[in-house]
Amino acid sequence: MAKIGNIELGDFPLLLAPMEDVSDPPFRALCKEQGADVVYTEFISSEGLIRDAAKSVQKLDIYDKERPVGIQIFGANLESMLRTVEIVEQSNPDFIDINFGCPVKKVVSKGAGAGILKDIPLMVKLTEAMVKHTHLPITVKTRLGWDHDSIHIHEVAERLQDVGTQAIAIHGRTRAQMYKGKANWTPIAEVKNNARIHIPIFGNGDVDSAEKAVIMRDTFGLDGAMVGRASIGNPWFFKDVKHFFKTGEHAEPPTLEERIATAKRHLEMAIAWNGEHAGIFETRRHYTNYFKGIPNFKEYRLKMVTSDTKEEVFAAFEEVLEKFA
Ligand SMILES: Cc1cc2nc3c(=O)[nH]c(=O)nc-3n(C[C@H](O)[C@H](O)[C@H](O)COP(=O)(O)O)c2cc1C
Repeated sequence: MAKIGNIELGDFPLLLAPMEDVSDPPFRALCKEQGADVVYTEFISSEGLIRDAAKSVQKLDIYDKERPVGIQIFGANLESMLRTVEIVEQSNPDFIDINFGCPVKKVVSKGAGAGILKDIPLMVKLTEAMVKHTHLPITVKTRLGWDHDSIHIHEVAERLQDVGTQAIAIHGRTRAQMYKGKANWTPIAEVKNNARIHIPIFGNGDVDSAEKAVIMRDTFGLDGAMVGRASIGNPWFFKDVKHFFKTGEHAEPPTLEERIATAKRHLEMAIAWNGEHAGIFETRRHYTNYFKGIPNFKEYRLKMVTSDTKEEVFAAFEEVLEKFA
């Protein structure tokens, strides 16, 4: 049984990865319905949040139906991060996750995200201060190291655990790799198998099939799988993995009708949450996967992603349904 603090997550939980512009409340709700055991918000800038930036504040929206939910924050300044913890606490998430893994230049250049992998003492100091500053469990999501010559995850995990981190999700790439190459789960398993480590270690990177989730569980012995890209436009991924764990077989894939019904509901929830303009924009990135396998989908996709009203997008969905059902 994996646990974050006192929160029981079951055996080998599936975690929806924090993803900017993807893991917003509508998408988290869909993934939860399909079996995600834990969900994370998109990352939230501590500097944005303490300045009350609308974009950062909106990302604090969480709902009871999606619990357990972690709010993810990033930053590198101690005072800002502590103030951020106070603000985040008011939203009452189940835990607070610190992003020490984002490879994007504008984050890293400020020493935040994966940038902090160059300053492990600061990483430990920030984490310790945050643990002491809140009653909520603090978790960390990070990468193997800055680059190939600095894979310090073994030391990092021990030190983060020693200052009170309650779980660590590790993406099996370095910052230098960005998203290139293949995620390496071996160092993650080494962390898990370190006799000193007793907190859950979740594996992340390239879990894009139920078979790979089984390998992460059985061959690498990790405590859970965090799924990012494979879930985009495919919340059924979680259901399939769960089914595969239970039966050794894949779940029935969703029918076109189900896919369209979900795409519609996704759009409706996004509009209800964020207004028509932003709701339409945000859901666009899911369509390629929602409609995977449709021949010549490009033509329909173009309509979906250039439509400015809900009615137009729905009409494009209906056209696909009529043609291919
Ligand atoms: C569109 C997108 C946005 C992301 N945003 C975040 C983020 O806000 N916080 C974070 O920790 N990681 C973020 N990531 C990284 C993912 O959480 C995950 O570590 C990475 O995609 C590898 O997992 P995967 O192979 O299952 O996708 C993002 C990834 C993608 C593709």
